Amino acid sequence: MTAELASIIDFIRYAASRFSAAGLTFGHSHDNPIDEATHLVLASLHLPPDLPPAYGAGRLTQDERSRILALIERRIGERVPVSYLVGETWFAGLKFKSDRRALVPRSPIAELIEGGFSPWLDEREVSRALDLCTGSGCIGIAMAEYNPSWTVDIVDISDDALSLARENIAFQHVEQRVRPVKSNLFEALEGQCYDLIVSNPPYVTEDEYAALPGEYAHEPKLGLTSGEDGLDICLQILDQAADHLNDDGLLIVEVGESEHALAALLPTVPFVWIEFKVGLMGIFALERRDLIEHSGAIRAAAKARGL
Ligand SMILES: C[S@@+](CC[C@H](N)C(=O)[O-])C[C@H]1O[C@@H](n2cnc3c(N)ncnc32)[C@H](O)[C@@H]1O
Repeated sequence: MTAELASIIDFIRYAASRFSAAGLTFGHSHDNPIDEATHLVLASLHLPPDLPPAYGAGRLTQDERSRILALIERRIGERVPVSYLVGETWFAGLKFKSDRRALVPRSPIAELIEGGFSPWLDEREVSRALDLCTGSGCIGIAMAEYNPSWTVDIVDISDDALSLARENIAFQHVEQRVRPVKSNLFEALEGQCYDLIVSNPPYVTEDEYAALPGEYAHEPKLGLTSGEDGLDICLQILDQAADHLNDDGLLIVEVGESEHALAALLPTVPFVWIEFKVGLMGIFALERRDLIEHSGAIRAAAKARGL
């Protein structure tokens, strides 16, 4: 009986047990039911994720209990990601607003941002960066927060995503250094050059999309799929990025599971697949000079699919 639940810890434990029993997928902000339950309960109570353990014994009011029980039922019944249920999530140690207008932030690129993109930027001067396909704005805004001397353009084709990104710019107080731009990839960026371009574009294949758990159906499809093999947007980025990078510029792109298809499609291109704490995550780095040297092969692959 839920009437027996009283404390914060009671509700976290109860939510975690229900999530486990329901066989939910934890592919968004977390990878396990306890973290997911903790996020739901603490955010609903407007408490920080690093709440000192002693507060776990705190008792909930009747209103709080009803509200949290209703959210637990929606998480299970409708498979809504917890970030959308509570309207917020954490990325690179920063809080972001999150709702259906854009994907839930979860890119491993957060680890690169937190680590100063070392060793990639160790010998490089960066003052202008671009976050292409920004969604909620998480990558670009976090880059600006961690690097107070940078200005960052954040680009998306979706009005919905950009409206959320604008709210996050204001939420993080980076209006002076982060500029939201509506653009189909580089279209509205003519003449703009950057020292660093980072992108987490859509890269899920149509087959993968069809097999995704219900949680993903709440996210905009435009943010997930990119042609039959997931590589259409990535190929266009590879094809056009050199025109928007300074001489010593670097491109970093996430393609996830499509890594193998990309390497097979462009076998001569020297993609450097970045090693994360947990291993390879389908994220490559490529120098501008390599983009130029291999532009023929890249153009041919893009042209072959009418891009
Ligand atoms: C995988 S989501 C990534 C969002 C965000 N960067 C993140 O890491 O959470 C991809 C984003 O690309 C945007 N997008 C899709 N096609 C685009 C295009 N042609 N030009 C610009 N943005 C595009 C989608 O609207 C979506 O917000």
